[in-house]
Amino acid sequence: MTKKFFISLFLLCTFSLLFVFSCKKNEEAFKTTPYVAPKIPGFRDMPVDANNPMTVEGIALGKKLFFDPILSRDSTLACAGCHKQADGFSDIRRLSRGVDDLFGRRNAQALVNLAWQKDRFFWDGRVSTLREQALKPVEDALEMHLPWAIAEFRLQNNTVYKDLFFKAFGIHSITKEYVTKAIEQFEMTLVSYNSKFDKYTRGEVPLSISEIKGFDIFKTEKGDCFHCHSSTAPEVFISPDRTFANNGLDSVDNVTDFLDFGLGEFTNDLADYGRFKIPSLRNLAFTAPYMHDGRFQTLDEVIDFYSDGPKGSPTLEPIMREKANKRLETTGHWGLDLTPSQKADLKAFLLTLSDSSFVR
Ligand code: HEC
Ligand code: HEC
Repeated sequence: MTKKFFISLFLLCTFSLLFVFSCKKNEEAFKTTPYVAPKIPGFRDMPVDANNPMTVEGIALGKKLFFDPILSRDSTLACAGCHKQADGFSDIRRLSRGVDDLFGRRNAQALVNLAWQKDRFFWDGRVSTLREQALKPVEDALEMHLPWAIAEFRLQNNTVYKDLFFKAFGIHSITKEYVTKAIEQFEMTLVSYNSKFDKYTRGEVPLSISEIKGFDIFKTEKGDCFHCHSSTAPEVFISPDRTFANNGLDSVDNVTDFLDFGLGEFTNDLADYGRFKIPSLRNLAFTAPYMHDGRFQTLDEVIDFYSDGPKGSPTLEPIMREKANKRLETTGHWGLDLTPSQKADLKAFLLTLSDSSFVR
């Protein structure tokens, strides 16, 4: 009896010690390198989510996942397939095509300086974090069309990924929460700050006379752009006062006549029908076509649209309606009525926001 008791005690102690020792060994092996976001003159500090601290290992893993078709059903389509770096991480196709050769309903957004757009993603703003966003395309039948359980299984059975997930998060069991955390960390590093406009604000290069005239149109009542796209938030060029707007693309009498309800589809509020996320204006040189449905192939078409004036609908952004009404009283025109040379200036300015070093 006592002999048996001592043998059991001995075995218990040995196993406990072994267990403690092996845990300690793992803890020692798991050590991440914190990522230090660069300080960019003129930009606010990069806001990092305390629930997903960025590490060199996490970012490297997220980058690999972003470019790897392993997350799609037939292993042919990566995130990067619709968000191509050469196209400013957007898609030159009007609507993106998923693994089943089905077209989505919207134009793939350009991914840039997402860290400063931290509250709402997608044209209709239906998710509030990048990691929540990254859950969607994998399972979406029009995109990668792979159940998450299978995605997790594939990664778990891949020795390279098993190792990388351990290095980044100290985990042995790979779950979608960690997959999307890694992708979020990588997406946060898609920072563009070397456009001509950035260099101009840092005093490194001058703008041409035409670009300066265009900037003037942009930031004054002449063009009215700044109410929604603003240089006061240079990271994104989205006005701090607004995230969504109906910029008058379509004329409808009844809001339920919009082909795409936009924000309204998510909030179910009739006042939000036809309102879309205001896009960043960075990298327009690479991100055509434009608007949520990619209806405009060129910047000239976009500028012509704003110059002709917004189309009327019940949810047209009030400031746009107000300005258009005022113009109607004073000039007899509802639109901005830009001259050809003013249009050229505005276009020249918009193109200064493109950063060719970012797409290489
Ligand atoms: C089949 C093409 C396709 C694939 C593959 C794809 N996306 Fe997208 N992505 C889109 C489209 C289209 C939108 C806009 C959809 C909408 O607003 O409803 C979008 C929107 C986004 C946005 C929102 C950007 C913003 O400014 O709000 C992010 C972030 C994003 N995708 C990241 C990813 C990641 C990460 C993956 C891989 C896990 C991925 N995408 C795979 C087409 C794609
Ligand atoms: C009332 C707010 C508002 C004003 C004013 C405004 N925009 Fe926009 N802009 C938007 C919204 C919202 C979108 C996206 C609309 C959509 O796709 O449904 C957009 C889209 C764009 C796009 C397409 C970007 C892309 O990636 O698809 C460009 C370029 C643009 N605007 C430039 C301008 C210029 C130049 C002006 C001034 C002449 C201007 N905007 C005035 C709200 C506004």
